[in-house]
Amino acid sequence: MEKLIINGGNPLHGTVTISGAKNSAVALIPAALLADGPVVIENLPNIQDVGIYAEILKEMGADVLFEDDWMEIDGRPMNPAQKLNGKVKKLRASYYLWGALLGKFGEAQVGLPGGCDLGPRPVDLHIKGFQALGAKVENQKGMMVIKAKKLKGARIYLDLVSVGATINIMLAATKAEGTTIIENAAREPEIVDVATLLNNMGANIKGAGTDVIRIKGVEKLRGCRHTIIPDRIEAGTYMIAAAATRGDVTLENVIPKHLESVTAKLREIGVDVEEADDSIRVRGQEKYRAVDVKTSPYPGFPTDLQQPITALLTLAKGTSIVTDNIYSARFRHIDELRRMGAAIKVEGRSAVIDGGNKLLGAKVVATDLRAGAALMIAGLVTAGETELDGLEHVDRGYENLVGKLHSLGAEVRRVGRAQTDKNETNAS
Ligand code: EPZ
Repeated sequence: MEKLIINGGNPLHGTVTISGAKNSAVALIPAALLADGPVVIENLPNIQDVGIYAEILKEMGADVLFEDDWMEIDGRPMNPAQKLNGKVKKLRASYYLWGALLGKFGEAQVGLPGGCDLGPRPVDLHIKGFQALGAKVENQKGMMVIKAKKLKGARIYLDLVSVGATINIMLAATKAEGTTIIENAAREPEIVDVATLLNNMGANIKGAGTDVIRIKGVEKLRGCRHTIIPDRIEAGTYMIAAAATRGDVTLENVIPKHLESVTAKLREIGVDVEEADDSIRVRGQEKYRAVDVKTSPYPGFPTDLQQPITALLTLAKGTSIVTDNIYSARFRHIDELRRMGAAIKVEGRSAVIDGGNKLLGAKVVATDLRAGAALMIAGLVTAGETELDGLEHVDRGYENLVGKLHSLGAEVRRVGRAQTDKNETNAS
C-alpha cells in the first residue's frame, strides 16, 4: 500500500496544467470500439483507470497502441462473442463496454463494474435503456449478458439524471435503426465530449449537453482523431487546495465555463477567483465565510467536489452544511477529517461542519478517490506531518499528483511500493 507523507502549512503557489478528463477518457476509450477503423485519442490523463482500460481492450482482441497521453484503438480484430470479467471490477466505468459492444456487435457479456464505494450504485437505468432499444438483459451471477437481434430507436425517459446511463444509451443507439430520444438526460461536459467523438466518427447525435439528446442511427462509423477536454474535477480540486492553503495558483488548460458552480461557491466563501480564456487564478484569503453547499447534476455543484470543499470549509468560522443530493453515503472522509481535529458530524445526506478548529497532522486513510483528495487538501493545510494511506484510490483520478503538488511548493513524498510512475518525481 503506498502512502503520501505531507508536511503541510505551505501556501501553494505557481502554475499547474490540468490533464484530460478522467470521466471523458473512460467513456471515449470504449466508444472508439464502435468505429470500423482506428481512432486516436489525445490528451489522455496518465491515470490507472486509463491503463486498466487499455489492458481490457487488448484482452478483447482490439489493436491498442498506448503511450503517455495518446492512444490508438482499432476494434475491428475483436471477437464479438467473448466474456469479460475480472479486470472490469477494477473500475466503475467498465460498464460503458455494455453500450459499446451492444452497439457494435448486438451483444455484450461483461461483468458488473467495481469503482468507489459511495453507497448503492444501481445500473437499472442503463438496463432500462438497453431494453427500450430491443435488447434482452440478463444478470447471470454478476455477468451482464445483453443481446439484441436488432437495435431499434426508442424514446427513453431517465427517471434520474444519470451520466453513465446517458452515455451508455448513446453508445448503444448510435448504430440502431431509427431515432432514439433520451429525455431527462445528464448534461455533463463529458457527455458532450463523447458525442463529439461519435459525431466525428460519422454518428448523428444532437442535443448533447441538454436534457434531450436525439440519436439518429447510422450504418457505419469511421476512425478519427479526438482530443479530450480538460478535467474539471481535477481543476476544482486544485482550486480548493489553493484556497485552503491560502496560496496563489494559476490553473492552465481549463474551460472556466465547466467550473462556474465551483467558482461561484469559492467566491461566496471569500476566495479570490479570476477567470481568463483557458486559465483560472485562485488566491486564498485569511478569512473565509461558512456557507452551505448542495450538490446537483451539472451545471450544479458537482458531487465529486463535495468532499474536497468540506476540507476547505473546516477553515471557515461558523457552521457550514454540505449536502450530497446525488450519493447518499459519500461521507467516509468525515471520520478521517475528525481524526485531524475537524468538528464535523453527518446528519442524513449532510455533513455539518463547525469550522474554525485548527487541524492537526495525523495518519489518515483514503477510502475512495475524492475522499483521498479531501484528506490530501487537509494535510496540505495542516502544519505538521500527515500520512495519507490508500493512495491507490487517488491515483485512479489524479495524474502525477506528487509532481504537480511538488511544483506548487508542497512538501509531499510518496512512500511504499518502489516508485513506478514514470512521471512522478519525489519531493526531496
Ligand atoms: C459518474 O458516475 C462519474 N463517474 C462519477 O464520478 C460522478 O460522481 C457521477 O457520474 C455523478 O456525476 C464516471 O463518469 C466514471 P450517475 P455514474 O449514473 O455515471 C443513480 C468520480 O469521482 N443511478 O450520474 O456512475 C446513482 O446511484 C466519480 O470521478 C441509479 O439510480 O453516476 C446516483 O445516485 C465518482 N440508477 C445518481 O443516479 C442507474 O442506473 C447519479 O449517478 C444509474 C445511476
